[in-house]
Amino acid sequence: MISYCKDRKTFNLMTRNSSYVFRVSSSGHLEHIHWGGKVTQEDYSLVNPFLKRAWSANPLNDGSYFTLDTFRSEYPTYGYSDFREPAIEVLFQSENRVLNLIYKNHVVIKGKKQLEDLPCSQGDEEVETLIVNLKDDIFDLRVRLLYSIYYEADIIVRSSLIINDTSETVNLERAYSASIDFDDNDFKLLHLSGSWARERHIMEKDLNQGFYAIESKRGNSSHQHNPFVAFKRQETTEKNGEAYGMSLIYSGNFKNSIEVNEYDQMRVGLGINSFGFRWTLKPGMSFQTPEAVLTYSDKGLNGMSHNFHSFIKKYILRGIHKSAERPVLINNWEATYFDFDEEKLLALAEVAKSVGIELFVLDDGWFGKRDAADCSLGDWYVNTHKIPSGLDGLAKKLNEKGLKFGLWVEPEMVSPDSDLYRKHPDWCIHEVGRSRSQCRNQLVLDFSREDVQDYIIQRLTKVFNSANIEYVKWDMNRNITEAGSALNKISGEIFHRYILGLYRVLNQLMKNCPKILFESCAGGGGRFDLGMLYYMPQVWTSDNTDAFERIKIQYGTSLAYPPVAMGSHVSDVPNHQVMRMTNLDARYHTAMFGNLGYELDLTKLNSEELIEIEKQIKKYKEVRSILQYGTFDRLISPFEKNYAAWQVMSEDGNDIIAYYARGLSRPNDKIRRLRLVNLNPNDNYRILNQVYRGNYLMAIGLTILPKKGDFLTEVYHLKRMDVK
Ligand code: DGJ
Repeated sequence: MISYCKDRKTFNLMTRNSSYVFRVSSSGHLEHIHWGGKVTQEDYSLVNPFLKRAWSANPLNDGSYFTLDTFRSEYPTYGYSDFREPAIEVLFQSENRVLNLIYKNHVVIKGKKQLEDLPCSQGDEEVETLIVNLKDDIFDLRVRLLYSIYYEADIIVRSSLIINDTSETVNLERAYSASIDFDDNDFKLLHLSGSWARERHIMEKDLNQGFYAIESKRGNSSHQHNPFVAFKRQETTEKNGEAYGMSLIYSGNFKNSIEVNEYDQMRVGLGINSFGFRWTLKPGMSFQTPEAVLTYSDKGLNGMSHNFHSFIKKYILRGIHKSAERPVLINNWEATYFDFDEEKLLALAEVAKSVGIELFVLDDGWFGKRDAADCSLGDWYVNTHKIPSGLDGLAKKLNEKGLKFGLWVEPEMVSPDSDLYRKHPDWCIHEVGRSRSQCRNQLVLDFSREDVQDYIIQRLTKVFNSANIEYVKWDMNRNITEAGSALNKISGEIFHRYILGLYRVLNQLMKNCPKILFESCAGGGGRFDLGMLYYMPQVWTSDNTDAFERIKIQYGTSLAYPPVAMGSHVSDVPNHQVMRMTNLDARYHTAMFGNLGYELDLTKLNSEELIEIEKQIKKYKEVRSILQYGTFDRLISPFEKNYAAWQVMSEDGNDIIAYYARGLSRPNDKIRRLRLVNLNPNDNYRILNQVYRGNYLMAIGLTILPKKGDFLTEVYHLKRMDVK
């Protein structure tokens, strides 16, 4: 996996289909050479020639054309002739900002180190890690670059450790997890951006000379931008061509920066956002960055997504639910909002059970005196006016009906109108002396404080153990403003300390309650990232449950995350977010490509609708392992057309479930084709009474006839025949 040529001081990090090559240049700097298709060359001296460039300074002063101005650096620094975005910035006590990182030594180890305070990728025997030690040529400031190679998965995980071995305190002002210098910009940048209820739409950009940033300064990874970027060649499609993907295992402020210089060299940096960041490194202290997950594929964007999906399923998700089929749930939020009592919940549960639902999730409003979103966050005590039997009694009643019980919480928040806030007004994030901006009538608890973390761990462990709770939805409904703390005074540390505190709380709760299936949520998909997936193996994809809006959201999300990570629900019509009418089929067809749930008042449906839902759930259960864990391929993009398609294939290739959706109806429309992918060309596939050859389905495709009506969907389940 990791080969090192001693004579040429060159590293080749090989995965099944890729190489990542760099070397120690004669100047001692780490020089990036290649990331892409697999190469086994020994001599790379011709790849990065230095040309005479006006205005480029040579820090060696040796009369050559050497300059860091165009140097392809593995971990670039500021100060010695490189004017591009650095990977690291430090401020020494002498106010010196210049850093010159020089290779010292390296070691290759089997397996990989688990990070202490941060989520990170798993893996043992099958992983090899390269550790490269760099040091500033003057100060004892060291940087350790870590590269873990997942050969089969075609993944490289990078992070860095910054160690202050000087005798003075050093301020770390930026510490990226990875930086990659491409030698051209002939790419399209793809990023997943949007807003609340419109998360992770695929956005594409050509990259010209200039600077681009995909980032969050909100405290969470955010609805607006996702800590993921992809680069594809101009000619790359879903099926073919080169694609690079980069994702961060982190849930807070992040930055993916892209800079193209005057020679069309492109630098990509990934890591914690340097905006407002300053970490105090006392002598002997070190700072570990989050991990960045990198993949390259020459099999198009789907190839890139396959790599991410398999990697996440194998090396990010953990716990007993990692590979387990996820239950079909009913969530009472859009059914009742705050207006419920025990009787109403049990009536909903009764119908839910009768149609085959397995888990009942009690959403917001069960605690304190919360009948609206204006109070009680922090008061995690059941409201016995609404639920006289308490959580335990309710759970028992649901269990007797044959349903599991799940509970909603929003532990990172506090309402000013709460007992917790009245008792501990300094427990929220705030700038001392400034007013505290409320959002949804709430403030953010100061998770940078250990006493706050401990309180939440202890209180929630009690709640989760107070009844037979088998699922928890962990919500978070606002961004951080006035980012300060009554205790932790260093403002540049607050955002990262908050996330470290959150991870500590989650870690402890997972240990205390290992059987609970956790689903993370942040007003829908405001924190859909690998950091949260490490603790909670599924995410509430979006508050937008409209079947048609969901096509784009799920299509976009699939670029970086597998279907089993996505919670997707059938909800009421007109849809509560966009008031759109869609039929029950379309709502189910779209929601079934993830962890299926229902979020509507089933007691108000007529018997035909309930029979329909019962059939949907029966069918879903038959194929759910394929839908949740199968290989997902995007076929037609809703960002390009008025229709969309995707398919999921079982691991053994015997089942293919394809989805086709139309947008607005087109009068007198043409006949369309749905071409599938990755079938065995010579095998036969059956759907109902029709048999197709694999090559037919891939070259000609299923025939889609025009239909009248907006927002119509079809699902095709094809089975391979004559399977031995
Ligand atoms: C936001 C979530 O995304 C919704 O699903 C719901 O749980 C509400 N919060 C409850 O306040």
